[in-house]
Amino acid sequence: MSFKVVSGIGGGDNIKAELARVDAEVVLEPVWTEEDIIKSAADADAVMVGATEPYTRKAIEAMKKCRVISRTGVGYNNIDVEAATENGIAVAIVTDASIEEVSDHALAFLLAFYRKIIPVDRLVRQGAWQLRRREIFEIRVPTVRLSRQTVGVIGAGRIGGAFVRKVRAFGVKVIVYDPYLTEDTIQTMGAVKVDFEQLLRESDYISIHCPATDETKRIFGAGEFSKMKSTACLINTARGDIVDEKALFNALSEGVIAGAGIDVTDPEPPDPDDPLLQLENVVVTAHSAFYSEDSLLALVMGTVGAVVDALKGEWPRSLANPEVKETANRRIK
Ligand code: NAI
Repeated sequence: MSFKVVSGIGGGDNIKAELARVDAEVVLEPVWTEEDIIKSAADADAVMVGATEPYTRKAIEAMKKCRVISRTGVGYNNIDVEAATENGIAVAIVTDASIEEVSDHALAFLLAFYRKIIPVDRLVRQGAWQLRRREIFEIRVPTVRLSRQTVGVIGAGRIGGAFVRKVRAFGVKVIVYDPYLTEDTIQTMGAVKVDFEQLLRESDYISIHCPATDETKRIFGAGEFSKMKSTACLINTARGDIVDEKALFNALSEGVIAGAGIDVTDPEPPDPDDPLLQLENVVVTAHSAFYSEDSLLALVMGTVGAVVDALKGEWPRSLANPEVKETANRRIK
């Protein structure tokens, strides 16, 4: 009897071909809600998961056969990993597919803000270059040369580390808040380890690259914005709930900080009437920082590869819960 693999990430020919190697079939059913997951995945041998499907404890406990929850990416905050471990289910992640894309995207937000690309583009299209030059001038002022500025990075792991390497090429000073990295490691990157308060006070740009965890949830709220420079720009390509979006809206509309570039929101997608989306000093993309054809292929092949491993009885290469290997009820044996 063939294995059943429920997919929330599509079922293209390359996925089908890989699964056929282990006599597995992909099943495409809706998995947007907890109820959907319980209905579709209760008898699945493996599931492939995007960034938002809610693999809650209740959903996971209903999955009686599943060996692996294979996440097409590195952020797994939509999966109750503890519940998966307790049930002997591996949670596989793809760690190396989008490092370049996400760090480039954060840099693109930074450069767009610094060079005021979007507001000036809007004005030029309205004819302001010919008729309302003063407005263009006012938007350009102030602009401080990037090499005189300080960039703060929250979380300097794979993506944050790549961002540090890239942004240093502009001659900026880079400071890092990452309680899990040593001073030496951060120094080797050419950056300086600081605490959160110092990072808030000194940064002209802050780019968030830590995971969404209980510890990082809403670490940016009204109090934090009030400690930042009024000229500062916040960049979030990590996860929406790291930032209190109502507080961000207030800070941006009241001039507490100057701008934001956000690829991730809470919830996703955002309500089209969300007032944050109406602000001129915000640039929003659609959780698309990871995307390139190269990255997508690596993500899909990494996700399906972890399923193939698990169905062959082998441990996938990257696990969010390596401790599952030690559990008595582990389902990969
Ligand atoms: P990583 O695990 O390599 O790095 C995360 C870093 O954050 C680590 O160095 C860790 O020590 C640090 N960290 C953990 N807790 C922290 C805290 N409380 N304060 C400050 N730093 C803390 O992860 P990677 O691969 O760099 O990915 C980072 C995040 O980027 C993912 O968790 C994911 O949410 C997000 N992401 C977003 C994508 C997008 O398309 N927008 C695509 C891929 C990832």
